[in-house]
Amino acid sequence: MTASLLVSAPIAAILVAVVTSWMRRAPGRAVRRLLLLNGATAALALAAAGALSLLIAGCGESSPPPPKPQAAAPAPAAPANPLIAQGKKVFDSHACSACHGEGGVGTPMAPQLTGIGGKFTPQQLQDLFQHPTAKMDAGGMPHFQFTPEEMKALIAYLDSLK
Ligand code: HEC
Repeated sequence: MTASLLVSAPIAAILVAVVTSWMRRAPGRAVRRLLLLNGATAALALAAAGALSLLIAGCGESSPPPPKPQAAAPAPAAPANPLIAQGKKVFDSHACSACHGEGGVGTPMAPQLTGIGGKFTPQQLQDLFQHPTAKMDAGGMPHFQFTPEEMKALIAYLDSLK
């Protein structure tokens, strides 16, 4: 709402200035009437600016909201499973968290990876890394060349992100 106020105030001021200067130039009108009219125009201008800013705000709202910050989520406990621990090392050493967040909680740059195991099978995840999607490319996700061991561990780790 602050944004729409910021937008509407200057628009209203400009509208009032334009209309009043036009009215001053209009000849043969009583000052009282002019003042009254000015009041009415100012109100109209404010209403118009308000409507416009609502429209602008409305447009803003239609764009997808940024991913919810999930910083409040507790950091995942150190994994007990050695394969998962190995996978976490792969995750951390390849800066996955730079885009996907610490523990894969997601950032505005890339979606959360928590729950990814429910979305993709291990085979599908492996295929994703070997054949990144257009969205992954567009978002600058590197084409990683994992060894089979790294891949297995990484997928076990991703699977463990609930
Ligand atoms: C430079 C930023 C960046 C880095 C670094 C990065 N990613 Fe991504 N990742 C993305 C983007 C962008 C997408 C595509 C998001 C979409 O489909 O909307 C993506 C998609 C994914 C997906 C598919 C998610 C889904 O729900 O479809 C997985 C899995 C994934 N990344 C894992 C990783 C792993 C593991 C690493 C580290 C080895 C990594 N990413 C590093 C940006 C990054």
